[in-house]
Amino acid sequence: MTNPSLLILPGDGIGPEVMAEVRKVIDWFGANGGPVFDVSEDLVGGCAYDAHGTPLHDDTMARAQEVDAVLLGAVGGPKYDSLDFSLKPERGLLRLRKEMDLYANLRPAQCFDALADFSSLKTEVVSGLDIMIVRELTSGVYFGEPRGIIEEGNERVGVNTQRYTESEIDRVARSAFELAMRRGKRLCSMEKANVMESGVLWREVVTQVGKDYPEVELSHMYADAGAMQLTRWPKQFDVIVTDNLFGDLLSDLAAMLTGSLGMLPSASLGAPMANGRPKALYEPVHGSAPDIAGQGKANPIACILSFAMALRYSFDRGEDAARVERAVETVLADGLRTADLLGEEGKAPVSTSEMGDAIVAALAKG
Ligand code: NAI
Ligand code: MG
Repeated sequence: MTNPSLLILPGDGIGPEVMAEVRKVIDWFGANGGPVFDVSEDLVGGCAYDAHGTPLHDDTMARAQEVDAVLLGAVGGPKYDSLDFSLKPERGLLRLRKEMDLYANLRPAQCFDALADFSSLKTEVVSGLDIMIVRELTSGVYFGEPRGIIEEGNERVGVNTQRYTESEIDRVARSAFELAMRRGKRLCSMEKANVMESGVLWREVVTQVGKDYPEVELSHMYADAGAMQLTRWPKQFDVIVTDNLFGDLLSDLAAMLTGSLGMLPSASLGAPMANGRPKALYEPVHGSAPDIAGQGKANPIACILSFAMALRYSFDRGEDAARVERAVETVLADGLRTADLLGEEGKAPVSTSEMGDAIVAALAKG
């Protein structure tokens, strides 16, 4: 048996800094009886543009299609702001998502007890929170035609089109039901079926797919009511599935229930490959943070938790994923904080590598 393959794309800014800490976690598992990966590393974003004149080389794209999972840091930076749109670092990431056809974006909102005070909501509302938002990522109003700014009479009209085919709804709904089966077996689908035909179809198709998952308790909610419920009592949810636009808003809202951008992982999954694993890209939600890049201040936890998601969703290593999450919980409970987690308190922050080392040490303890 060959080892599972992982393509690492650290990218720009703090990307390489946080990825260096993930490498420590990967190496720890390799040396301690955990999974051993066939790891390759390549360029994406501004650094790829510097080396090849394109934010994603064709060879890198081809490699991404072959491997079992891709782990990405972050792309972008002020140095590239003046580049032509098609050469911008972000285009590298968008090309990966598009050509791998990653239609299900998984964004967990999980509250680590030690950070419950850090939330803008009351501690009892967020402590123990563990929900997952599945956002459709490749269709909907961000892609629908017609689009553009058109002349109509003597004024201009901005046009975008919300459009969903049954198969697009079906496949993301299946991803969400599969996820619900591995978690609390509850799924809430959010749309605006009261005012949008695409929402009516969404509700119909999700209900139909639900017949294949009789164990999952399915509910429906209008997305605006969903936003209210997410801030009022988020613990009522387990898995939420929604479209691209509502998912963009609701996943950002849910993420901030629990604290800092430096803590948030994500996964983008596509169709199953020949080996049964889904096409997959794992990345922290944050960007390249040019304001703190190169200073050892970045919080590596979002990227480390993204790797934990890879263990769980690409490599069937839920136990190892839970072990990483426990290690993060432990170091936070011990009081370790990178600068982004300190707020107004007068405590001294730990550096990126000190945080990574502490997590590895906690892994070793169990
Ligand atoms: P950002 O996420 O890079 O930074 C926003 C703020 O959060 C900054 O103050 C930053 O220092 C802080 N922050 C972010 N991650 C952190 C971490 N791990 N630890 C501690 N603090 C952290 O978003 P921003 O500033 O809007 O964009 C900066 C660059 O990143 C731009 O070029 C943008 O296009 C790119 N970007 C890339 C993304 C990606 O690669 N997926 C996503 C978002 C932005
Ligand atoms: Mg957003």
